[in-house]
Amino acid sequence: MKKLDAPNFTPNRTAVFFWLAVMFLAIGLRAETRPFTLVVLPDTQCYCDTRHAQSAKKWGGDLRRYFFDQTRWIRQNAKRLNIAFVLHEGDITQTDHPDEWEIAAKAMSVLDGKVPYVLCLGNHDMGYRKTGNSPDSYSTAHDRKTLFNKYFPYSKYQKLDQFGGTFTAGRMDNSYWRFEASGMKFLILSLEFKPRDEVLEWASMVTEKHPGHRTIALTHSYLDSQNKLTKSGYPVQGNLGEGIWKKFVSQHPNIFMVLCGHVLGEGRLTSKGKAGNPVHQLLCDYQGMKNGGESWLRYMTFYPKKNKIEVFTYNPSLDTFMKGPKSRFALQYQMSKPSASTADK
Ligand SMILES: [Fe+2]
Repeated sequence: MKKLDAPNFTPNRTAVFFWLAVMFLAIGLRAETRPFTLVVLPDTQCYCDTRHAQSAKKWGGDLRRYFFDQTRWIRQNAKRLNIAFVLHEGDITQTDHPDEWEIAAKAMSVLDGKVPYVLCLGNHDMGYRKTGNSPDSYSTAHDRKTLFNKYFPYSKYQKLDQFGGTFTAGRMDNSYWRFEASGMKFLILSLEFKPRDEVLEWASMVTEKHPGHRTIALTHSYLDSQNKLTKSGYPVQGNLGEGIWKKFVSQHPNIFMVLCGHVLGEGRLTSKGKAGNPVHQLLCDYQGMKNGGESWLRYMTFYPKKNKIEVFTYNPSLDTFMKGPKSRFALQYQMSKPSASTADK
C-alpha cells in the first residue's frame, strides 16, 4: 500500500503573525468602542424605613423588597448592559438607625464581587434628632454623626481595585473611585451631604491629580426639579449646589457629570465649566411616587462611537420604563477621541 505523504504545509510565519496582530487589534478596538452602562440608585430611604414606616403607612407593608429588586436586577443584567459602576445618590436610610442600615447593607451586598458601587451620604443618613413624641417627629442633618461607616466600612472597601482613597482616614463619608470602560479612564468623587469647604478642596486636589480621568461628582443635594442649583437649608454647615458648582465642579476641565437625588422628581442642566467643558448635571429621586419609589432607577448607557449617553428610567419590579422627555433622553458627550481636557494626559 502506498504510504500517503503528509501534506506539505509550512506556514508562513510572517503571515501568521500578521493575522494574529489583526485579530488582536480588532478585539482591542471592539473593547474600546463597546457601549457600557452606569446605574444610578436614587434615594432608598423608604425601602429601609421599617421603624417609622412613613411610606409603608401610606402604601401598606414592608417596602424593602424594592431595594433588593434593584440590586438583583443590576446583578442579573451586569453582563448584558456591560455595567461598569453603580452610584447611590444618598438618603440610603430614613433615620440613620441600625435596623435601616442592616437592610441597606444587605441589599447592596448583592453586588459584592459582581459590580463595583459607591454610595454617598444624604441628610437622612446623618444628624438625626427627635423633635416630638410621635415617631414621625424628627429632623435630620443637625450634625455629621452617622452609622454609615459601621455598615459600609472602610476596611471592606479599601481592598477593592477601584477604590482610590478617602478624605478622612478610615471613613467612607467622602471617597474617590477609579475605573476603566471602553478604553477610557473614569474618576468618581463621592461627596458628603452639604460638603464642607475643606472637602471641596480635597475633591479639587484629587481631580487635579487625575487629569486623564473623565470625572463624575456624586453628591446628595445639588440640583432641583426646576433645573436650579440648590442653595440653602439644613442646620449642618457646608455647600449645596451653588457652592459646589462655584468652588469645585466648574473649576476642572475633566468633570463632565454631576449626579444627585434629594429633591423629589427629575431635573437636568448642562452648563459649561471654566475651561468650556460641558457638564451634565442630573437629578432623579422617585421616593415621592407610589410605594416610596417602587424600585425606579436610572441607567445611562455610554456609546463611545456615537459620542452619546442614552439615559433610561426603569422599574425593575414592574419591568417598565418611564418614557417622558425628563426621564428618557440622550446627552452628547465626546468619547470617540480624547476630550480636549484629557487628550494629552
Ligand atoms: Fe434628602
